[in-house]
Amino acid sequence: MTDLTPVLSATWDAEQSWKLSTYTDHGGYGALTKALGMEPADLIAAVKDSGLRGRGGAGFPTGMKWGFLPPDDGLPRYLVVNADESEPGTCKDIPTMLSAPHLLVEGVAITSYAIGSNHAFIYLRGEVVHVYRRLMQAVREAYEAGHLGKDIHGSGFDLDVTVHAGAGAYICGEETALLDSLEGRRGQPRLKPPFPAVEGLYARPTVVNNVESIASVPSIVGKGVEWFTAMGTERSKGMGLFSLSGHVAKPGQYEAPLGITLRELLEMAGGMRNGRPLKFWTPGGSSTPLFTDEHLDTPLDYESVGAAGSMLGTRALQLFDDTTCVVRAVTRWTEFYKHESCGKCTPCREGTFWLAQILERIEDGHGTDADIQQLLDTCESILGRAFCALGDGATSCITSSVKLFRDEYEQHIQQGACPFDHSASALFDYDSAPAPEEAHA
Ligand SMILES: Cc1cc2nc3c(=O)[nH]c(=O)nc-3n(C[C@H](O)[C@H](O)[C@H](O)COP(=O)(O)O)c2cc1C
Ligand code: SF4
Repeated sequence: MTDLTPVLSATWDAEQSWKLSTYTDHGGYGALTKALGMEPADLIAAVKDSGLRGRGGAGFPTGMKWGFLPPDDGLPRYLVVNADESEPGTCKDIPTMLSAPHLLVEGVAITSYAIGSNHAFIYLRGEVVHVYRRLMQAVREAYEAGHLGKDIHGSGFDLDVTVHAGAGAYICGEETALLDSLEGRRGQPRLKPPFPAVEGLYARPTVVNNVESIASVPSIVGKGVEWFTAMGTERSKGMGLFSLSGHVAKPGQYEAPLGITLRELLEMAGGMRNGRPLKFWTPGGSSTPLFTDEHLDTPLDYESVGAAGSMLGTRALQLFDDTTCVVRAVTRWTEFYKHESCGKCTPCREGTFWLAQILERIEDGHGTDADIQQLLDTCESILGRAFCALGDGATSCITSSVKLFRDEYEQHIQQGACPFDHSASALFDYDSAPAPEEAHA
């Protein structure tokens, strides 16, 4: 069985883990000192060699992205950290910033030095006010200790960090919508190219990276490329946070090498809640096609999950047992996409509206025989035709659930009602859920 590899989460259970003193007691900011003694190009090469792939969902190689920036022209260039984390089921960046905000701040400082940026932004999901306060406090502490600001560690490198709270729109996690929002506009995706590396924030070269990607940088610099590449699989290197939620005995964050399987994670998480069978699960959030118990042994790396017909995404493993109505779950997710569609393009704006309408009537038992085909046709009209990946993502749970559980959709239509007894579903049965201290024992 693969062991857990707590790196990002190593200090989460330390006393006042969010404080600078706790972080430095555990060796914090040592990697920054080391990085400032290196050439920026060597740092970029190290991150390229580590094989770190973006942890925000798409898995794009991080060092390669940094290398896309054009040569320095003496004008500003920016690092923007994507801390919008709004994908249903995804809950790794928020605990990282809550428990170890200095890990992110140190990663921001190292990355900014590597790419030649003197101003970095952290764009945070607006609803998490407690995380905003904690991040602001960490940035303040880092300035006071000389880890940010002028002449960091006497190196001559200057860096300002701005923490910006968004207004709570899922689309503002899409990197170009995020940039528009940061500039004060309504958050809607931009046409690409130009890509942010060429024309990003304020039309200047910009690197946009996920919180977990940037928080992984200090350990790569501090412990070395070989240490990092020793974890994971051939093309999916390193460790990552796997977020288990739903009908699982001990939900939470499990930090493990990429390539671990759900079977192994479930063993550590105490199995399914109440010992019930696993019915379906998302490997990477609600935008990734559903898996079933047939995929318990699929290695959770980019290649294996892709080959099995889904996507690793954000490693948001939402687990559902046999008491769950799949139509109901898919309808809730679709209502989310309908609500969060930014309205810029017709396939997604209109399509998600119709998908929700059709699903709601099937769930309520008012669907017709033609509705399942209508659902699939509408998904086909969105997939590959929408302006950004939100539209494509909205279709994943629908098409995969019809493929896997078509009989359940048909049952709703034939019986004129949902065949499930929702009071039997343990999803919202808080009485049978373990107490937090028990779950994390
Ligand atoms: C609708 C939508 C929402 C997204 N939300 C997030 C998010 O909350 N956090 C994130 O890091 N990336 C999100 N992304 C992906 C970003 O566009 C981008 O790929 C990512 O921030 C790049 O960082 P990485 O290379 O470090 O993964 C989202 C993409 C889409 C289409
Ligand atoms: S796919 Fe949806 S979220 Fe993306 S631009 Fe079109 S309407 Fe907006």
